[in-house]
Amino acid sequence: MAELIGGLGTSHVPSIAMAIDKGLRESEEWKPFFDGYTPAQEWIAEKKPDIAVVIFNDHGNSFFLDRVPTLALGVADEYRPADEGWGPRPIPTFEGASEFAWHLADRMVEGHFDPMLCRELDVDHGMQVPMELVFGRPEAWPVKVVPILVNTIQYPIPTPQRMWELGELLRQAIESYPTDEKVVVLGTGGLSHQLQGARAGFINPEADREWVAKIGADPARYRAMTREEYIEEFGSEGAELIMWLVMRGCMDAEVKTLHKHYFAPASMTGAGMVLLENAG
Ligand code: DHB
Ligand code: FE
Repeated sequence: MAELIGGLGTSHVPSIAMAIDKGLRESEEWKPFFDGYTPAQEWIAEKKPDIAVVIFNDHGNSFFLDRVPTLALGVADEYRPADEGWGPRPIPTFEGASEFAWHLADRMVEGHFDPMLCRELDVDHGMQVPMELVFGRPEAWPVKVVPILVNTIQYPIPTPQRMWELGELLRQAIESYPTDEKVVVLGTGGLSHQLQGARAGFINPEADREWVAKIGADPARYRAMTREEYIEEFGSEGAELIMWLVMRGCMDAEVKTLHKHYFAPASMTGAGMVLLENAG
């Protein structure tokens, strides 16, 4: 049977991609941020997962406002990096775990989550950046991927509670796959930011620090919060954090937080990560 080896939550801010592309990894501004990911890179290099299930939102690159799926699942054999306005970035194409993804599709529909099924999909920074943060810039990605996309752009977005329940269902789906793949789940987005409206530029480092400290050991409050409370506390785009709940819902009630990291640069976005393993 396939095994869930861990869960990782991380921001997917596009300026991280820009920093990598410009070779700024070791610069004074960026080194403290990237260094925070070294333990996760070491963990993943040691554990060698076969498949990464990546929970993220598209940002108007593959789905525009004319058609917005609340939930979408990639079942393709490959995913190209999306062109976000400057041409596709020079990163490898992602290889899809399509058979495994069709199994997830079956289990999701049986469990009353009905995703849009994508046989063709370009993936934007929502998936690219987390993959680069944990795998670096390889010639070929060392895992196959399953993209799961959540609408966090066009209201109404799904509820935090529903995202947690999706995680619980994905856990069962992963563990009912008949062969022995090792699976890691990446929940992406956040941390606090607001890119629009009267509060544009809003970040909340205090709430972000509490999030990375508590999402492993004490997540009950975050599951119970309303969408409006997410927006109030984390900003309109910080509500992307509901996608970490899918990852957290996959995990046991008791988890070990192996590593956490938070970075609030002088910018528009609080950025952070957690790495979780089941305690049992
Ligand atoms: C920005 C975009 C994102 O999708 C995100 O999650 C954080 C920040 C940005 O454009 O700054
Ligand atoms: Fe985003």
